Amino acid sequence: MRPQLSKASAATMDSFIMGLVEVAARPGMISFATGLPDNSLFDTDAVSRAMAEVMSDDPCGALQYDTPTGYIPLRERIAERCRRELGFDASWEDVLMTSGSQSCFDMLGKLFLDPGDRMAVENPGYLGALQAYSAYAPEFIGLDMDEDGVDTDQLRAAVSDGAKLFYSIPNHQNPSGVSYSDPVRREVADIIRDSGCLLIEDDAYGELGYAGRVGRTMKSMVPGDTVLTGSFSKTISPGMRVGWMVVPEWLRKTAGRTLEATCLQSNTFCQRVVDRFLADNDYDRYLAGLRKGYLEKKRVFLDAMEDSLPDTMRWNDPQGGMFVWLRTPDGTDAMRLYEKALEGRLVVMPGHPFHVRGGENTIRLNYATPTEEQIQDGMRVLGSACRELGYRRGR
Ligand SMILES: Cc1ncc(COP(=O)(O)O)c(C=O)c1O
Repeated sequence: MRPQLSKASAATMDSFIMGLVEVAARPGMISFATGLPDNSLFDTDAVSRAMAEVMSDDPCGALQYDTPTGYIPLRERIAERCRRELGFDASWEDVLMTSGSQSCFDMLGKLFLDPGDRMAVENPGYLGALQAYSAYAPEFIGLDMDEDGVDTDQLRAAVSDGAKLFYSIPNHQNPSGVSYSDPVRREVADIIRDSGCLLIEDDAYGELGYAGRVGRTMKSMVPGDTVLTGSFSKTISPGMRVGWMVVPEWLRKTAGRTLEATCLQSNTFCQRVVDRFLADNDYDRYLAGLRKGYLEKKRVFLDAMEDSLPDTMRWNDPQGGMFVWLRTPDGTDAMRLYEKALEGRLVVMPGHPFHVRGGENTIRLNYATPTEEQIQDGMRVLGSACRELGYRRGR
């Protein structure tokens, strides 16, 4: 006999994504499916140097436990960047280092959600975060997205209905690539201000706007009602698991205690490596190189889509991040396209799992991971799959 699993483990949603990571890793597969950064853009030499310096400067300190909320010099750097680039005042004590930004979502769920509590989420929204929150069994209220961002009427209604949290990705959203327009940002700020609903601003792709940051941070507009989450996963390395959250002062102590209870501290060895990396390199120049790399990748990808896909398919032109949002013809089920593409050894990510409702005819495509050759080959497979399913007219 085995002990019964907890309600929290039963409530935790499945993530379609992890299954696809395994499928995509099989030999001969091309993947447009996952959210992995481009291997060729990792600065492996600079990271190796930073790691060597960390071990030669203070080897015992680097291997030792540290403060639960993280390595202070790196927190100071992040706070400084918040003041200089993100438009709001923060001290290092407001910055809590975490194991990727994924663990922020779990901690915020733990901090605020009891089963049945209402929580507003974007529809579609980032599946990994929804999975983290789902363990706390909230009632998700899905807010529709269009090309300007979230539907603010639906947000207002959700907040009036008692939503405690609103999880949002204002810049280059995963999965849709959409960023909030300035009027939408202002309206969201007006709705959230002093409402009793905490805004969780996920800024995972904020630094990857091809022409720079696309808008003001929500945290700069409603600082006391916003937790901003950030990460070096999309810029330096996801494997190092260095993320953070910037919390309002009223949340510092409780959030620090929850962090400590969860994991004692996150990986301060890697935090030191990142800190060294930032000390030794011109980060803004480095980011400019990444943006250029991803912009070029996006152009190749969109050109290949133009060449290979039938014109009954619609897609957007994201201004940052890593994803294109593809729509198959109205009334069709994109899961069939996923299956058909798989027969041709191409993995794409169906959009439906990112939704609280709807989204059956959507697909998320990642242009960051595949090489240019894989983009060309994969897009031909996708084009043939569309035609085989009768999505005419063919080019
Ligand atoms: C929007 C968004 N937020 C957060 C994350 C999680 O990133 P990490 O936990 O590696 O910081 C991802 C990863 O793909 C993401 O796309």
